[in-house]
Amino acid sequence: MIYSVGIIVASDKGSKGERVDRSGDLISEIMIEAGYIVKEKVIVPDELNQLSDTMIRMADIDGYHLILTTGGTGFSIRDVTPEATLSVIHREAPGIPEAMRAYSMTITKKAMLSRARAGIRNKTLIINMPGSPKAVKESLTVILEALKHGLDILN
Ligand code: MTE
Repeated sequence: MIYSVGIIVASDKGSKGERVDRSGDLISEIMIEAGYIVKEKVIVPDELNQLSDTMIRMADIDGYHLILTTGGTGFSIRDVTPEATLSVIHREAPGIPEAMRAYSMTITKKAMLSRARAGIRNKTLIINMPGSPKAVKESLTVILEALKHGLDILN
């Protein structure tokens, strides 16, 4: 089965056009290369309700199989992507961020600062990733193989 993907870039500056997004485009490139269909990428400010509303819309109305978020997982007071995710998922999938952090920790100890979460809303899997392109690449590298198997089981 070919799976559809929605990308959410959580970024105050990006949403105001004050910063060019590179991480969302990198996710898109990597996922297309891996055989997924990327349906859309949206840049949303670091606001809990806007993030959770976008996740709900992508899952319930658009029916995407997978939602990948980037940014807003750190310690800044504005970083609320994990909280938005927890507010919309029905079941958590902790092994995914555990794997991302475990692998990333071999590259930078700062990986422990990401509060990224992952979980399932109905048949949609939602995964948080940190905001930098480097972090996105490292995080996707480690999860891609198992991700396909997880989506096969979910669907
Ligand atoms: N994970 C990987 N794989 N590579 C990285 O460079 N950077 C970390 C961490 N996770 C990093 C990483 C840093 S410096 C921070 S502050 C946190 O992710 C949170 O990033 P975010 O607020 O952009 O989500």
